[in-house]
Amino acid sequence: MTYLSTTCPLTGTLTIDGDKSISHRSVIFSGIASGTSTIKGLLLSEDVLATKAAMEAMGVIYTQQEDGSYVVEGVGVNGLSQPQQTLDMGNTGTGVRLLMGLVASHDFTTSFTGDKSLCSRPMGRVLTPLSQCGLEVISSADDYRLPITIKGSSTPAPITYTLPVASAQVKSAILLAGLNIAGTTTVIEPVATRDHTERMLTGLGATITSQKDPATGHHVIALKGKQPLTHANFEVPADPSSAAFLIVAALITEGSEVTIKNVCMNEGRTGLYTTLIEMGATITYHNERVCAGESIADITASYSQLHGIEVPAERAPSMIDEYPILGVAASVANGTTVMHGLEELKVKESNRLDATLNGLLACGVTAQAGEDTLTVTGGPIPGGCTITTHMDHRIAMSFLIAGLVSDSPIKVDDVTMIATSFPNFFSLLEQLSIRVNES
Ligand code: S3P
Repeated sequence: MTYLSTTCPLTGTLTIDGDKSISHRSVIFSGIASGTSTIKGLLLSEDVLATKAAMEAMGVIYTQQEDGSYVVEGVGVNGLSQPQQTLDMGNTGTGVRLLMGLVASHDFTTSFTGDKSLCSRPMGRVLTPLSQCGLEVISSADDYRLPITIKGSSTPAPITYTLPVASAQVKSAILLAGLNIAGTTTVIEPVATRDHTERMLTGLGATITSQKDPATGHHVIALKGKQPLTHANFEVPADPSSAAFLIVAALITEGSEVTIKNVCMNEGRTGLYTTLIEMGATITYHNERVCAGESIADITASYSQLHGIEVPAERAPSMIDEYPILGVAASVANGTTVMHGLEELKVKESNRLDATLNGLLACGVTAQAGEDTLTVTGGPIPGGCTITTHMDHRIAMSFLIAGLVSDSPIKVDDVTMIATSFPNFFSLLEQLSIRVNES
């Protein structure tokens, strides 16, 4: 069991781990670009390393330099070779879904597996559109769960696909398939999601357009396939989803002021920050700039008395990974916070709607969940409990942070999964003089 404690306000300026979404994509795009690319600031988490190992198994060579950056020998679009072993994707839904898209338009067979959490997550959402491109599902566990073996098509067809769920992973999987398909692959997004894939492909010289259809308000992303991608110098900014834990820690711990440097401010990622500001948080952005096609800023958060608000469903895609830590912030706010549009939380690394609700209830917080809502009423957090994390890194980190302000310790049963997304989490806590206790 692990729990946190602190005797002083949290103060400091931190440089944190690289963004997970951009890291997966940097590994994949550098691998299929033509020529030699470099990646700076790559997140060396278990999830990203699983994607890198999978790309290595398909022929890409990544070499780490003395300064920690990577040099990548890209094999070109259509240059990948059939992996000789099953690709074990560990815990990473992003990695496996993006790679299923990538291999769907390659004329070879690929087998994927993962850990218990990943094997319980739905893959039909990518396999359905990819089958329309010509992908064949050779075998899978029940209901398109891992382990799965798929065969890419030798004559893949471009598709036009309207996303039935707001998912950047599904959008990106289809676009990755489209890179090696002659003709134009089109994805229609009724609700916008993070657009790292589109931005990076634009930077690599792909023929890609993203426009809002004035009649429907939907985003229409069209990619011309069978075009080479240029090599590039990728720079990965800090992860706003990881920063969220430290920002909320500062907001709820009296007297604190913490700055996180170089955070990715992509509109599809900043919903939590908008929400916290609406709740009365003192959060400021400095040094705003654009780097490698993404907006970046340093974020400063100071202790604030928060108040409850309604968080609209439309905001969910831009903060989809942040509801567990928002639940913690709402637990100390004055009044009630109602979060809407949480359906997708049920298919994350755990059923995060249940895991967040049950964790809050175990801590003695007044909370209830509906089909796709979570309602939390703030007050002192009694704590004095052990949280079941269900192999979910964000549940573990959220409740560790809640323990900073609870009356009695909040212990979490398993912190090993934190390494899947935020390997430096504990060393950064130590930089803020937070004690990490084991019992
Ligand atoms: C991600 C998209 C989101 C998010 C995940 C990373 C991505 O998933 O939850 O952590 O990098 O595209 P969905 O696309 O399933 O919403």
